[in-house]
Amino acid sequence: MTTEHLLNQSITSGQALIQNPIMSVRGLNVFYNQFHAVKNINLDIGNQQILALIGPSGCGKSSFLRCLNRMNDTISDCRITGTIEFDNQNILNKNIDPVYLRARVGMVFQKANPFPKSIFENIAFGIKIHGLSTNNQDLEHQVKKALDKVGLLKEVEHRLEQSALGLSGGQQQRLCIARAIAINPEIILMDEPCSALDPIATAKVEELIQNLKQNFSIVMVTHSMQQAKRLADRTAYFHIGELIEVNETSLIFNQPQNNLTHQYVEGKFG
Ligand SMILES: Nc1ncnc2c1ncn2[C@@H]1O[C@H](COP(=O)(O)OP(=O)(O)O)[C@@H](O)[C@H]1O
Ligand SMILES: [Mg+2]
Repeated sequence: MTTEHLLNQSITSGQALIQNPIMSVRGLNVFYNQFHAVKNINLDIGNQQILALIGPSGCGKSSFLRCLNRMNDTISDCRITGTIEFDNQNILNKNIDPVYLRARVGMVFQKANPFPKSIFENIAFGIKIHGLSTNNQDLEHQVKKALDKVGLLKEVEHRLEQSALGLSGGQQQRLCIARAIAINPEIILMDEPCSALDPIATAKVEELIQNLKQNFSIVMVTHSMQQAKRLADRTAYFHIGELIEVNETSLIFNQPQNNLTHQYVEGKFG
């Protein structure tokens, strides 16, 4: 089936396809046993842009996001159909190594999940297993560089050998972002990265996400419409497994084309 044919069947309003995407999702379905959780999604991910995924709880945002680096592989009754093109390959193809893929498409979760190891080791681990450092001095340099990029270096420089679990929630989340960027992914997936943080920590992480856009492409699930407005270049509205509308963020919030999008952004349900 051609892309055009798939798009003709799509119910999505707005602009799902863009020029020079970094990743292209076509005809994507996610099933958990018989339950159809994500329905025929066609959507391009912009290069060095932030794409926000919004919509009511249970509409399939996390299920969709997890497809983009094959995290759904770990769920046994989960079945996926369709294609996701990244660097001229369909990443859903079984011959794509998910470990290699996840080095290129990193992920940050809702709840910060540092390893129960030192702050240093949390960052060094990925650099080492992907063979990205040549010697200990270079490793230390890379660890510090990643911590600096997330604005954490000054806060933790004197205690790199202490457990990461002793950091505050906001610091832990920035550490997890540092861990993700330390291995130079091209895309970073974030599933409600601020929902467990207080407003001050949220503001810091938001500022960080905004800066990351210079070097990475980001797909972010958020339940905060304000956050989507502040950060995202494009916003996609999901409803019961379907992509209802996607467009430049200002258009989604100020001139939605679909009545469901309109009601959601007006706060009529959620
Ligand atoms: N591991 C799973 N097993 C079975 N059903 C699931 C699983 N994960 C999610 N679902 C179902 O798929 C639908 C979409 O869930 P999810 O992707 O988590 O939505 P969202 O992130 O938008 O809240 C929901 O109905 C949810 O109950
Ligand atoms: Mg979710």
